[in-house]
Amino acid sequence: MSAAAEIPLTEKRRVPDAFDRVARRYDLLTGLNPGYRRHLRMSAERLHLAADAAILDLCCGTGLSTAALRRVYPQAAITALDASPGMLEVAAKKPWASEVRWLCGDAMDPAAAGAVGPFDGILMAYGIRNVPDADACLARLLGLLAPGGAICFHEYSVRDSRWARTIWNLVAGGIIIPSGALTSPGSPIYRYLRRSVLDFDGVRAFEARLARAGFTDVHTEPMDGWQRGVVHSFLARRPR
Ligand SMILES: C[S@@+](CC[C@H](N)C(=O)[O-])C[C@H]1O[C@@H](n2cnc3c(N)ncnc32)[C@H](O)[C@@H]1O
Repeated sequence: MSAAAEIPLTEKRRVPDAFDRVARRYDLLTGLNPGYRRHLRMSAERLHLAADAAILDLCCGTGLSTAALRRVYPQAAITALDASPGMLEVAAKKPWASEVRWLCGDAMDPAAAGAVGPFDGILMAYGIRNVPDADACLARLLGLLAPGGAICFHEYSVRDSRWARTIWNLVAGGIIIPSGALTSPGSPIYRYLRRSVLDFDGVRAFEARLARAGFTDVHTEPMDGWQRGVVHSFLARRPR
């Protein structure tokens, strides 16, 4: 199969469509990434929510971030939203799927799909980098949180560190893109992943963006392994 057209960074609305086409191999590929699932659990824990919290998993994909939330908060009421029907179809086959409320919709306007809140916590794992307008999305998410509610953006950010950019280029160019070409031939999503990570805010810029959007208690916590300095939990709260 020939390589599909690149996804320009100015056309992020095309991203869910591209995920549709790799959905059935997504868990296989992320399974090769050491720490992927454990790091999602670390971000879930860092929300520090009550056991019975109402939680939104935004850009839930095939439910790997949802599984992390379930593991950390087994009694929580979890709503999970994604814009890719293909990714949601894989999520719906997980043995615990009936315990989650799944919604197909745009992270730019979760309420339009039925995720009206208020939520005690929101996890957005590998999502904010992919929305067409991060500031507009943040404004919407602030409005979905209960006063004092917590949000975590589990995301790559390498702009502030030459070391992190080097590691990312090595991992993306040497492992992720070649593995993606084997598991999902012709998909542009893994080359887009490399470029979108290089283009995304640095840690300080994203923290400033969160503060500008009206979030409080903004801070960042690291991962371990090769992801240290590359993937982060960006944490914040809606003011009380
Ligand atoms: C890299 S996957 C992450 C999935 C999951 N959170 C995880 O950690 O494994 C990114 C997901 O974001 C979804 N996505 C991208 N843009 C979106 C948008 N505007 N609205 C909703 N979902 C979106 C894609 O469909 C994809 O399933």
